[in-house]
Amino acid sequence: MHAANDLFIAARAAMAKSYAPYSKLSVGASLRTADGRVHSGGNIEVASYPEGWCAETTMLSDYVMAGGGPIAEICVVSEKMDLITPCGGCRQRLAEFASPGTKVYLCDQTGIAKTITMAELLPLGFRGDILK
Ligand code: THU
Repeated sequence: MHAANDLFIAARAAMAKSYAPYSKLSVGASLRTADGRVHSGGNIEVASYPEGWCAETTMLSDYVMAGGGPIAEICVVSEKMDLITPCGGCRQRLAEFASPGTKVYLCDQTGIAKTITMAELLPLGFRGDILK
């Protein structure tokens, strides 16, 4: 079993709480901060489709409201799609708070199946440094 299997379990639990009556694609995401806190979220859809949002965004909201901090690991899972990867918008949102070396775990139905880094997930991403 993968050492971060607890993150897979947290992402699956969040996926079970997702609200996806339109696409019927439930997604769950979880992260662990460097100081060991776990945050998670599921996707939430809206009848006006573009107003819905992704599991990763719910997760980041939970994380920011709890105080944020350095992110060590991120995990994403979906029941219908093995190795689901965050959408383009969520890659940018994740990169806002994660580091290039943050581990990103992609899952199948049994657990973490592939590990990549944030830098691999969003190569050549826009960085906001110049805005500061
Ligand atoms: N979705 C996520 O929650 N995360 C992703 O990384 C990709 C897509 C959701 C959004 C929408 O509720 C459903 O999957 C279908 O696009």
